[in-house]
Amino acid sequence: MPTLKLDIRTSTVGSPDLVTFFIKGSPLPTGVPASEFDGALCSTVLLRDKSQRTLIVGVGEKDKIEPDTLRRAAGAGVKHLLKVGGTEIALDLTEFAEYIGPAVEGAILASYKFEGFGKDASKNTRGVLARLQILVKEHELIRARVQARDAEIIATTANTIRDIGNLPGNMLTPAILAARALELANSRALTVKVWNERHLERDGFGGILAVGKGSVNPPRLIVIEYRGGVKRDAPIALVGKAVTFDTGGISIKPGAAMDEMKWDKMGGCAVLGILLASADLKLPLNLVGLIPSAENMPGPDAYRPGDIITTRDGKTIEVLNTDAEGRIILADAIAHARLTYKPSVILEYSTLTGSVVMALGHRRAGMFTSDLKLRDAFLAAGKATGELVWALPVDEEYKEGVQSEIATVKNIGPREGGACISASFVKTWAEETPFVHFDIAGTAWTTKPPAHLEGGATGFGMRLTLQALRAGLQV
Ligand code: BES
Ligand code: ZN
Ligand code: ZN
Repeated sequence: MPTLKLDIRTSTVGSPDLVTFFIKGSPLPTGVPASEFDGALCSTVLLRDKSQRTLIVGVGEKDKIEPDTLRRAAGAGVKHLLKVGGTEIALDLTEFAEYIGPAVEGAILASYKFEGFGKDASKNTRGVLARLQILVKEHELIRARVQARDAEIIATTANTIRDIGNLPGNMLTPAILAARALELANSRALTVKVWNERHLERDGFGGILAVGKGSVNPPRLIVIEYRGGVKRDAPIALVGKAVTFDTGGISIKPGAAMDEMKWDKMGGCAVLGILLASADLKLPLNLVGLIPSAENMPGPDAYRPGDIITTRDGKTIEVLNTDAEGRIILADAIAHARLTYKPSVILEYSTLTGSVVMALGHRRAGMFTSDLKLRDAFLAAGKATGELVWALPVDEEYKEGVQSEIATVKNIGPREGGACISASFVKTWAEETPFVHFDIAGTAWTTKPPAHLEGGATGFGMRLTLQALRAGLQV
């Protein structure tokens, strides 16, 4: 990705395209007919005079404006201008000083597009955002610079993980993901350890090994540590499912839209992003990110229905469907987090079930926790970041769905309440540690992008969690 020059100023320099924001109901700017523009959120009208293009972007009604409004409007403006070849853009935020962070974030998120491979670049007329100017009033300059810089870190990291996320299964195997994590962490105050098959075997990670066995691309466990807090404080553990491709294994999936299962690694990508951005933001916290990664393939050596697996802490799983693989690799990683790091809380992200998509669609991710403080913190962080979540239950009773006659649990239960039953399955490995499971199956990627984004990986969960961490997550 090309580097962006970000300027916080009181007036434009050079001749950028200018974005101004328009509150619905205000008097229309001269030259804009009411029939063409009403100021609805993300609606746009482009004015050209000889020296400059000005894009007016609606933000809707004044009393409905919140951080995500400016994130979306700024993003929609930038996306529009890039499509007409813009490369230098100025956002006029003089009347929206409290939303500098979200607007910068929206602009940078909107500037990302997956490049693809082997396409004729000369046919690409879409501009690349080279310079972004943020216009504020003189007395806002200092605060604006801090907010813009943090937003730049967060959005740039989100784009990095979206770019990893959009790589197909043949280009992003567990070993390649581990190499990317090492490379990205090396330039930061992070330490990374990677378990290969031998290490996984030695340390009893029976779940990650079983799921990875059907593939010639062997599994990995990636562990990233960040120590920005008080030395003796227990870390917060972040666990993310990174199945680089999910065919379903022996319980193979139907063919339709199976390509989308390249995004079955997005929980792990979110965790990677949280660690990278936390280091860049220098958050005063201790964090440990655990990313179990495997490719779920059928093959002569693949794990099979009926198999019994022993996980990292000795609990056993009766496999009844090899397509319910995410929970198996998560079991190992959650147990390892609990046993090795004694964390104050475990936050876990996974594209775990089709069931949560049936329940919530693509607007909100499912959040499962019995800790009400954590629940409220993430509901608030969702509103602030636009990465919306909704609380679904994880009552003990849901575990009855995965009771096994011959193992600690079985890996599938009844279809009814599938997302809740799956949540109760993974929670088993957290034992008494406060735990939040995010089922991001409906939000990790988009095929119907909103006005400020492109289709593909969204990075969902990363900005949400950074917001909650920055607000001082209370456990
Ligand atoms: N990765 C899938 C879940 C998924 C489905 C994510 C659709 C995003 C969109 C997961 O590994 C899976 O296959 N889950 C099964 C579980 C079932 C076999 C109990 C599912 O939800 O159908
Ligand atoms: Zn699956
Ligand atoms: Zn999966």
